[in-house]
Amino acid sequence: MMSQTTIDLDALVQPKRIHRSVYTDPDIFELEMERIWGKAWIYIGHESQVPNPGDYATVNIGTRPLVMVRDRAGSVHVLYNRCGHKGAKLVDTDCGNTGGGFVCCYHGWSYQLDGRLVGVPHMKGYEGTGFDKKDPQYSMQKLAQYDSYRGFVFATMDPEAPDLKSWLGGAAEVMDNLCDRSPEGEVEVVGRPLRFDHRCNWKMFNENLNDTMHPMIVHRSVVDAANDYIKTLPEDSGRREEAEIIPPFGASYKNFEATDIVGFPYGHHYDGGKTSIHANYSVDPDYEKVMLEAYGPERTREILTFNTHNTLYYPSLTIKSAVQNIRVVRPIAADHCVIESWSFRLKGAPESLLQRTILYSRLINSSGSMVGPDDLVAYRRMQLGLESDANEWVEIHRDYGRDEMHDDHWVGRGTSDVDIRTQYRAWRHYMLGETC
Ligand code: FES
Ligand SMILES: [Fe+2]
Repeated sequence: MMSQTTIDLDALVQPKRIHRSVYTDPDIFELEMERIWGKAWIYIGHESQVPNPGDYATVNIGTRPLVMVRDRAGSVHVLYNRCGHKGAKLVDTDCGNTGGGFVCCYHGWSYQLDGRLVGVPHMKGYEGTGFDKKDPQYSMQKLAQYDSYRGFVFATMDPEAPDLKSWLGGAAEVMDNLCDRSPEGEVEVVGRPLRFDHRCNWKMFNENLNDTMHPMIVHRSVVDAANDYIKTLPEDSGRREEAEIIPPFGASYKNFEATDIVGFPYGHHYDGGKTSIHANYSVDPDYEKVMLEAYGPERTREILTFNTHNTLYYPSLTIKSAVQNIRVVRPIAADHCVIESWSFRLKGAPESLLQRTILYSRLINSSGSMVGPDDLVAYRRMQLGLESDANEWVEIHRDYGRDEMHDDHWVGRGTSDVDIRTQYRAWRHYMLGETC
């Protein structure tokens, strides 16, 4: 059941315009945390972050502290990181190993790795009080549902949510592509994330992902600088990858228009497929060799020519399958979120692929990069501009009425606002209970 609100949500999100308060109002942010982030499948982490029994990784969904942990039998659980006694967080670091179970720092209640309460010191005082150690309310609580797809772990607080595979729908194809780029069909996390503080609403980041009308403007200075630098490099300088990564951000409207954007139920979408700004990367011959051995020529070609740019699994996970990089959205307030950028190794692939992934993350996604900070300046200016009541609306007209509708997906041109329409269709589903 939805909580009551006096805010007229229906009036704020219209087919061709979004009210500015959707980005700025703390009350709407709180409702989003409850109705979207408390209902959708949210990305928790990758199974490779917790390879051994007792390994854990902590994460927050809004204000809710959670922990992903692997038990002795090898299963991964997603639990509320809260003691069943008086509520203390059981683990308070990003990641680690908690041994055979959790022990609370305060009064020493202990829990198995699946969250079950096993030990309460000095039980004598509870005799005859009605307290029952076996009552599940005193255990660490499990999320209503949790599951993984190709090693990517998601959880939802909604017991009624569709199963993960159904919720991912056609967008799962891009996650498959990310993993199939490994000759072993598996990826694993490398190192810790780059965390990038964004003083803007979380939706601005998501709405930028397939916004192909901005790169040639916002990123023009870095593309020009990169091109000038590349001209000075000798042919054999070994800086080919830098030269391949930055200039495509300056591609023309015509190039981006050709990429197409595909939208799915529940707010997921990607741009590219047949082509993207990653389409012309060179292929390491050693990588090609192991891929051909693993998949044969036809399947290898299929995998390596499915070139998407950004894919959004609304609202929390975005992936770039062609460069094995993901960015995770962690909202904090109406005008504040943190973006985590994680790099993945393609198991069985040469080291050069991982080096390219890390290089991409440094050059494009990190707070010290030359591209991500361009975007952040634009988001910050939007956040400040939308505080003004000079104009109440943000417009999303591009290609309105021209989206090609299919049963389980829809397609727009690469420069269309179809991605934003896809996201707000899901926003209305979660916030207003509409069919997705
Ligand atoms: S709060 Fe955890 S044992 Fe008391
Ligand atoms: Fe950008």
